Amino acid sequence: MTAAIDINITKVITSKINEISLENIPFGKYFTDHMLEADYQDGEWKNVEIKPYQPLLLEPSIAALHYGQAIFEGIKAYKDEDGNAFIFRPADNFKRFNVSAERMQMPTVPEDIFMEGMRMLVEMDKKWIPAMADHSLYIRPFMFSTDNVIGVKPSETYKFMIILSPTGPYYNAPMKIYVEEKYTRAAPGGVGFSKNAGNYGASMLATALAKKAGYDQVLWTDAFEHKYLQEVGTMNVFFIIGDTAVTPSLEEGTILSGVTRDSAITVLQEMGFKIEERKITIDDLINAHKSGALFEVFGTGTAATISLIKELKYKDYVMEFDVDQWKTAPELKKRLNDIRYNKVPDNYGWMIKV
Ligand code: COI
Repeated sequence: MTAAIDINITKVITSKINEISLENIPFGKYFTDHMLEADYQDGEWKNVEIKPYQPLLLEPSIAALHYGQAIFEGIKAYKDEDGNAFIFRPADNFKRFNVSAERMQMPTVPEDIFMEGMRMLVEMDKKWIPAMADHSLYIRPFMFSTDNVIGVKPSETYKFMIILSPTGPYYNAPMKIYVEEKYTRAAPGGVGFSKNAGNYGASMLATALAKKAGYDQVLWTDAFEHKYLQEVGTMNVFFIIGDTAVTPSLEEGTILSGVTRDSAITVLQEMGFKIEERKITIDDLINAHKSGALFEVFGTGTAATISLIKELKYKDYVMEFDVDQWKTAPELKKRLNDIRYNKVPDNYGWMIKV
């Protein structure tokens, strides 16, 4: 196979695809035949290769395991009815990946390795893209530090990889959400805007406690007063209040600049909603709920796409919603899916043909 960039390609002898069913497949459990791997050494990226998906051989001292210089992205590829494959907005994830890299004192990854490497990998494993509604191929680019030194400092060597996982819906049902008042996800000056592994590790205790109490996820609040709303679980959050879609603003650097968030803003505008990206407190939300103006609450993310929230609990105040009556989130999801599955023209240039 010839490559536009210098990528060494080794194909599997026998595909694993017949070992699993691609229908209703759980998120992130199965991986395709191939993966991409590149090394950063002596100030440059080298050894770029696509090869059979396989374990890594690493020393126990690698810095990422100890100090968490590890970042990732989540992107999806879709298949249309004619079998054409598309990747949704990968250039936006590429940019965010390098923003995360800079925040974590890691080298940036060149565009050709990230973008063309991903395209070639997806093309090789195209038959793994499930061709069913709400199914896709989840693309996971990631980078971690590999120096075999346990001194605390930025590594001099790194590995960049891309793996692929066929997937069905992330959340199957509307969610119950607990408004978090004790634990925090991010503070100004921290790393909340970057997609680094530690943000997810740090979220697990609060999420586990919420689950124990009967909730699916937490709605994070600000670190100082626990009153400004940030993100829900691993997603950005939207509130439909009257004729306006409100979502927390990005300027404090405490929430992720979601690609699905940005897509939702564009499509909600197209649907006639006013958009407010601003600070919003839990009291604002409760007041909107009490006055009957809070119509819908939903999360947006690559893995989860659009996830309806049927209950929000803050202290003793519970907001319950009859999601079956909702019009906005389902319409938003449909419009986004119509673009992703190539059922309508992509007026925004979001779909990159593989
Ligand atoms: C994504 O939506 O891609 C995410 O990052 C969530 C993931 C951690 C499952």
